[in-house]
Amino acid sequence: MRAAVLEEFGKPLAIQELELTDPKEGEALVRLVACGVCHTDLYTASGVDPSGYAPTVLGHEGAGVVEAVGPGVESLAVGDHVVTLFSPQCRKCVHCLDDRTNLCLAIREQQNKGYLPDGTTRLKRDGEEIRHFMGTSTFAEYTVMPEIALAKVNPDAPLDRACLFACGLSTGLGAAINTAKVREGTTCVVFGAGMVGLGAVAGCRLQGAERIICVDLSDDRLELARGQGATETMIGGEDTVEKIVEETGGFGADYTFEATGNVKVMQQAVEAARMAWGLATVAGVAGKGETLDIVPRLLITGRRVAGSSFGGVKGRDGVPEFVERYMAGDIDVDPFISHRITLDEVNRGFELMEAQDGIRSVIEFG
Ligand SMILES: NC(=O)c1ccc[n+]([C@@H]2O[C@H](COP(=O)([O-])OP(=O)(O)OC[C@H]3O[C@@H](n4cnc5c(N)ncnc54)[C@H](O)[C@@H]3O)[C@@H](O)[C@H]2O)c1
Ligand SMILES: [Zn+2]
Ligand SMILES: [Zn+2]
Repeated sequence: MRAAVLEEFGKPLAIQELELTDPKEGEALVRLVACGVCHTDLYTASGVDPSGYAPTVLGHEGAGVVEAVGPGVESLAVGDHVVTLFSPQCRKCVHCLDDRTNLCLAIREQQNKGYLPDGTTRLKRDGEEIRHFMGTSTFAEYTVMPEIALAKVNPDAPLDRACLFACGLSTGLGAAINTAKVREGTTCVVFGAGMVGLGAVAGCRLQGAERIICVDLSDDRLELARGQGATETMIGGEDTVEKIVEETGGFGADYTFEATGNVKVMQQAVEAARMAWGLATVAGVAGKGETLDIVPRLLITGRRVAGSSFGGVKGRDGVPEFVERYMAGDIDVDPFISHRITLDEVNRGFELMEAQDGIRSVIEFG
């Protein structure tokens, strides 16, 4: 099969022929139909990610069709449509059995090292082992993944849209729906209008928020936020907190969401949350070693801070539900797809992202 290989950090990905061995116990072979290009792929490709390794096949926002299953696979069959999950759901571990978290404990250690759960890889090049990335490696025509990391979705859903639910969109939706559990009639502020922030805006709208104020640095992105349900928009700056407090009768917002990865903005999100019950949900990933500054008095007077990984979504249950809501017309996915590219053009996908040209480039596999 053909795949985009990260050979060397900071260099363009190389499209190469690789071998992919058959799925083993509890695994499935998936033919990719579409895959989004995300910041996390670029972050690893650039070499900035301290836990990155090479060679590997990047990509994690995949959607495709099951072509074969290994022994013991019960929840998937050949022909099923699936979305890939970097955050699995084994349905057995202590975290999967608890409704307070989506952080499945099943395969973390091996996945972080680049291996499938049994500690080996299915990717090979002339006999040399190539490691997997995020347990997904979806910049490729095919991938082998554990059954517990594949969400079976409605076969009528177009896979070029469904793939966006593999990462940022579900993260934003889930931050509002699962983590913050936004109440009807409330005021929400979303910092950042990338894939995650726009998903959070949509999530606040689905929860029935009355006011959704979106803050970003780009007018184009704020326009997209209006399309997702933002009732007001603001260009971010030093005085954002002041402006939000003023706009909310001197109190601040019931819910704030941070989706920028900037710790100064995380601080603004905490400070813009209302006294007594304001909840700031942090979804952005900060740089290594960075810390978030909070004046403790803000907490004593009732503000709370929550973090959200993959929007608190238990992937095998939650992603198919989101796809159903998309199919029902509740979530408008099309505006997020700014470019459609081929696997050979994956490096162009990175360039478009660096230029902040659109929200997502989606690779379509012919
Ligand atoms: N928690 C998770 O599971 C998870 C999953 C995916 C991504 N993320 C993280 O979420 C963050 C957002 O991801 P994304 O794909 O939407 O990124 P993105 O770069 O597309 O969007 C970030 C947005 O923040 C805006 N921004 C930057 N500085 C700002 C400021 N001072 N005030 C207001 N807005 C500002 C930018 O203009 C941009 O539109 C990243 O840190 C990413 O790593 C987290
Ligand atoms: Zn992603
Ligand atoms: Zn689990």
